[in-house]
Amino acid sequence: MLSSGKSIMDWSEQLAQFSEPQWAEKNQLTCTYLTPAHIKTAAELQAIMREAGFDEVTTDAVGNVVGIYRSAHSSTDSQDSCVPVKTLLTGSHYDTVRNGGKYDGRLGILIPVACVAELVRQKRRLPFDFEVVGFSEEEGQRFRATFLASGALTGDFDPTWLAQQDADGVTMKQAMQTAGLSGDIADITQLKRDPSKYLGFVEAHIEQGPILCEGNLPLGVVTSINAGVRATCKITGLAAHAGTTPMNMRQDALLAAAEISLMAETRARQDDGSVATVGQMQVPGGSINVIPGECLFTLDMRAPFDHQRDALVNDILAQAHVIAERRGVHFDFTEVMRASAAPSDPQLQQRWERAVQSVGQPIFKLNSGAGHDAMKLHTIMPQAMLFVRGGNRGISHNPLEIISAEDAALATQAFMALLDGFQTDLASTK
Ligand code: GLV
Ligand code: MN
Ligand code: MN
Repeated sequence: MLSSGKSIMDWSEQLAQFSEPQWAEKNQLTCTYLTPAHIKTAAELQAIMREAGFDEVTTDAVGNVVGIYRSAHSSTDSQDSCVPVKTLLTGSHYDTVRNGGKYDGRLGILIPVACVAELVRQKRRLPFDFEVVGFSEEEGQRFRATFLASGALTGDFDPTWLAQQDADGVTMKQAMQTAGLSGDIADITQLKRDPSKYLGFVEAHIEQGPILCEGNLPLGVVTSINAGVRATCKITGLAAHAGTTPMNMRQDALLAAAEISLMAETRARQDDGSVATVGQMQVPGGSINVIPGECLFTLDMRAPFDHQRDALVNDILAQAHVIAERRGVHFDFTEVMRASAAPSDPQLQQRWERAVQSVGQPIFKLNSGAGHDAMKLHTIMPQAMLFVRGGNRGISHNPLEIISAEDAALATQAFMALLDGFQTDLASTK
């Protein structure tokens, strides 16, 4: 099984060779939805899955790469069988943030791929179908449609997204068609999974934080994923001469946005576990000698519970309007993503706990500050996640993100143990 760690490291490098041009030339990894780099990544992932021995490997209508390793009694080859074969669903995303790491998302695809390679090596089939999805979009970078890929599986793909434009004016539908997808909502709607056919959704992911690294723990079992809201914001003030307009007569859009950002920081700090981030801020058409008349910025607000997240968002919104009024500017807030907290399914969480224990590791439980595809699947089926330690004090959304081959191998062993656990339980219920 140690070789699985090396395979995962090699595959991660193979996938990381595809980056968007202006980032690639700086040796940085950026792979956003349906760009040429993203399409090449999907093709490479397909090749990796085929090589591992999946029975079926396809790309679906939103660009998800879907590999299926059929059960010993798959309904396709045992039509006489009265026992419907269920499916265990797993996977994570292959898109990245700008200048991101090689493991965020991809590790959660490659670990189960390594499991399939091991099952093939052992000439072994499971008593259930094993479906591994490389989700095409989770990060919400090119379009404001975070989780569109896992959302397609849960029936949450918003048809209006197809008309949404990227920063260059390309619509999502055009991007899909350029990538060889139909861009037809009817094809996307068909991706919705029927939860009654599934045993649940499990996801492995790099932790993206310092807890496992500092605790010298290779694996952690996730108890819940934090709730989040994302918004795009616009301040409209008055562009005016920077030299002649007295300080008390300005309607400076950027300073209003700056004050709102600091207020959001102060408000989030009042809670245990709340976070608020302004990740992007622009003054369109700004000049060195012009008071900013418009400022665009983003807000990302998260908390461990929905009610705590709602209070955070409501307070920030209310105070932002007060600041805008005092400064004589207008504040617009457009919510672009809302995800509920996703507590792990107790039984699936216990399966991870037993799996971690079976590979000789202590059961360490933690919640997830980051969002994951599991949050989406949570809306239709039981889910639970396994975290793998990141090095460099767990830094992520940064090229310094790193894992070790040993931890990748251990996570694969734990995933195999989880599959064994399902196998044993299904056999005993026959
Ligand atoms: C996804 O990486 C997130 O923003 O949590
Ligand atoms: Mn991420
Ligand atoms: Mn991720």
